[in-house]
Amino acid sequence: MNDQTGSLKVSDKSVDLPLKKGTVGPDVLDIGKLYQDTGMFTYDPGFTSTASCESAITYIDGDKGVLLHRGYPIEQLAEHGDFLETCYVLLYGELPTAAQKADFDYRVTRHTMVHEQMARFFQGFRRDAHPMAVMVASVGALSAFYHDSTDITDPNQRMIASMRMIAKIPTLAAMAFKYNVGQPFVYPTNSLDYTSNFLKMCFAVPCDDYHVNPVLARALDRIFILHADHEQNASTSTVRLAGSSGANPFACIAAGIASLWGPAHGGANEAALKMLGEIGTVDRIPHFIARAKDKNDPFRLMGLGHRVYKNYDPRAKIMQKTSHEVLAELGINDDPLLDVAMELERIALHDDYFIEKKLYPNIDFYSGITLKAMGFPTNMFTVLFAVARTVGWIAQWREMIEDPHQKIGRPRQLYVGATKRDYVPISKRREG
Ligand code: SDX
Repeated sequence: MNDQTGSLKVSDKSVDLPLKKGTVGPDVLDIGKLYQDTGMFTYDPGFTSTASCESAITYIDGDKGVLLHRGYPIEQLAEHGDFLETCYVLLYGELPTAAQKADFDYRVTRHTMVHEQMARFFQGFRRDAHPMAVMVASVGALSAFYHDSTDITDPNQRMIASMRMIAKIPTLAAMAFKYNVGQPFVYPTNSLDYTSNFLKMCFAVPCDDYHVNPVLARALDRIFILHADHEQNASTSTVRLAGSSGANPFACIAAGIASLWGPAHGGANEAALKMLGEIGTVDRIPHFIARAKDKNDPFRLMGLGHRVYKNYDPRAKIMQKTSHEVLAELGINDDPLLDVAMELERIALHDDYFIEKKLYPNIDFYSGITLKAMGFPTNMFTVLFAVARTVGWIAQWREMIEDPHQKIGRPRQLYVGATKRDYVPISKRREG
């Protein structure tokens, strides 16, 4: 890190702020001592200009539409590797050798089952509970089952908890799906690869043989790669903040799932497909675009826009290609939702409003069409996002825990409430 110094003039005071440079991307001004030097806080509610940490895991250049995991471009990881290879890269920082990959796959595969009591834990939910609600609860409940890997000061326990989380999240996701549709849970099959195993746990039934479609398995594996990590997004920041207090990793991942559920974040894939369905046909698009532009209308075009990408989300391009592959494999040649999505994208890329505000399709724009074609109901879309993002949350959580300078996250505020005033007995308070 090459340090220089920035300076800030506040009324009659001038303070020096250490300037830190990363390996690539914007420099940062270290304001850690600003309050003690000036008695003032900085103010940035949406963290639009605030770096919360130092990280070596994922780099995004929003203007160029670049996404790197440990320096490897997302396009190359998605094209040449599988999801567990991306997991290895995120966790260990390097591409695995053949022996390292085989060992990693073996270790993950040996943690795919959940404690048998978990099955009874599900019985407490209504069948129509949203699968994301079930995921928040069941992942949090893992800390009630795996006490032997909750001591975050023990590197070995951190590693076991990491492997358990990555291995069990597909099993819990499939259980949430099966419970929702009223079918029996399907145990993991260790002879299958990670994503084929997940598809079988979701779609196999006791009364029929189930054969994984390799084209769909490859497509879903690639979709998992695209969703694996994304710098300090809302859910990752939630996991880091929860973990900064020393909370166990299962509880931290449950907090991340809760944050991901929001429609402005991971819930956008479910919302985007519902929006495409509401638009219904290409001729209704102008009406919805007018609504999106109307300041008095809270309607937003889900799957468009991004806090960081002010260019095309590189993941969306791969998602679009994957959606065509899946629809072709399934013989779906005339999906009206895809027609609406393609026309909406074409208009958005040429309309002044979207160009001025730099609103491009993001990863959630095409994912719903693909997942629906694969047979997943819309309420499972964000669950699939959580399955993939768990490795990113775990990698970021471990980086935070293993940072020697790490301390509990505790932001301050700009207070705009009442100043000090005395208590008034109820008998003396005026009505109305
Ligand atoms: C994900 O952070 C990540 O990395 C997230 C993610 C990941 O992998 O973890 O990439 C995954 O969450 C992708 C984003 C999914 N969300 C959506 O698709 C929901 C629709 N998009 C938006 O709500 C919005 O674009 C956000 C939330 C994604 C980003 O919001 P920002 O950065 O806070 O931007 P903003 O809301 O201030 O919008 C800037 C302007 C506004 O207009 P003005 O007030 O300046 O006049 O653009 C407009 C907004 O009204 N705008 C939109 C719009 N998104 C922004 N107008 C119409 N439709 C939209 N979708």
